[in-house]
Amino acid sequence: ASSVITSSSSSPALTFKILAECSISKARTSIMKLPHYTVELPMFMPVGTQGTMKGLLPEQVKEANAQIILGNTYHLGTRPGKDLLNKFQSLHNFMQWDRAILTDSGGFQMVSLLELAEITEEGVKFRSPYDGSECMLTPEESIEIQNAIGGDIMMQLDDVVDVREKEYERFKIATYRTTRWLDRCMKANKNPDMQNLFPIIQGGLFPDLRKISLEELTARNAPGYAIGGLSGGEEKDKFWPVVHLCTNHLPKNKPRYCMGVGFAVDLVVCCALGVDMFDCVFPTRTARFGCALVDNGQINLKAREFANDFQPIDDKCDCTTCQNYTRSYLNTIVTKETVACHLLSIHNIAYQMRLMRNIRESIKEGRFVEFVQDFMETYYRDQA
Ligand code: GUN
Ligand code: ZN
Repeated sequence: ASSVITSSSSSPALTFKILAECSISKARTSIMKLPHYTVELPMFMPVGTQGTMKGLLPEQVKEANAQIILGNTYHLGTRPGKDLLNKFQSLHNFMQWDRAILTDSGGFQMVSLLELAEITEEGVKFRSPYDGSECMLTPEESIEIQNAIGGDIMMQLDDVVDVREKEYERFKIATYRTTRWLDRCMKANKNPDMQNLFPIIQGGLFPDLRKISLEELTARNAPGYAIGGLSGGEEKDKFWPVVHLCTNHLPKNKPRYCMGVGFAVDLVVCCALGVDMFDCVFPTRTARFGCALVDNGQINLKAREFANDFQPIDDKCDCTTCQNYTRSYLNTIVTKETVACHLLSIHNIAYQMRLMRNIRESIKEGRFVEFVQDFMETYYRDQA
């Protein structure tokens, strides 16, 4: 059975209240009040890069019940840029999205997208993909752009280690540098009463470094915390224990955000480990490859077997794609039409949102453990 907890923590721009906790796992469901919207957690946040969701209109994202979306500092800082954003006052006005926005700090995207990024104590040095000029993203510059964007939650600039790196020493430098960059970000934040700044726990797969990062960053008393450095395609038996360690040491009364995690099974496991927020490009990216998320994984609508399949993607899904279109129709248009990508994106976002809602409701109703059992049995049924 679940118990209702009244413990709450508040900062000027964020109120967090736990509604129910699982009595066996660390799962909890909560309400997070942000300046632009009140969000129910655990929640998946769809990713928009240039101020749009790839393949979706803002109203369709709303219809899917997304309550908070991700913006990217690196992309938005280049286009529309700080000056234009300041003129519009915020990205909310600019893109007609009146719910909550979270912005990532930009460094991660640079390291993962640009081969040429180089990290120094000053910041992330890179060559602009637009004009080839040399640029430097410092903690101060990242916060200046994020202040112009006006998101409800901003992320600190962190030292993200390349996934191919194996050296302990490099992770150790990144761990301590991330603390120093957090202090520079906090100092640079011109809008702390309206915009929450979240630190990002680093330390790779090394428990001692994670513990140092946890100790240093939690000492800064932020309104919420993120766990970073996990989305590099590590195997699950390495990444889940890191999340377990982190949630054991993060404050209970503040939201926890696992960055770049979005496979269904990871969402379920990380919720059980006490994570509250997630983001990932996976649902919309896989849609662009013709794939739809279903209860036992994903199906590729390009496969010939769907040509004569007159069912919707999922007959239990209430999204507009499943209400109106067959697998056969999607199979016909999937390689030729961008419309197919829109239709699959709508379904995939609806899938993620429904999964998170089911998790929240099962925690509230004291049956999260049963939910996880059912989920796993269905998800892995073909491997049984
Ligand atoms: N997105 C996924 N992982 C990370 C991370 O470690 N840091 C940042 N800033 N963004 C991320
Ligand atoms: Zn659907």
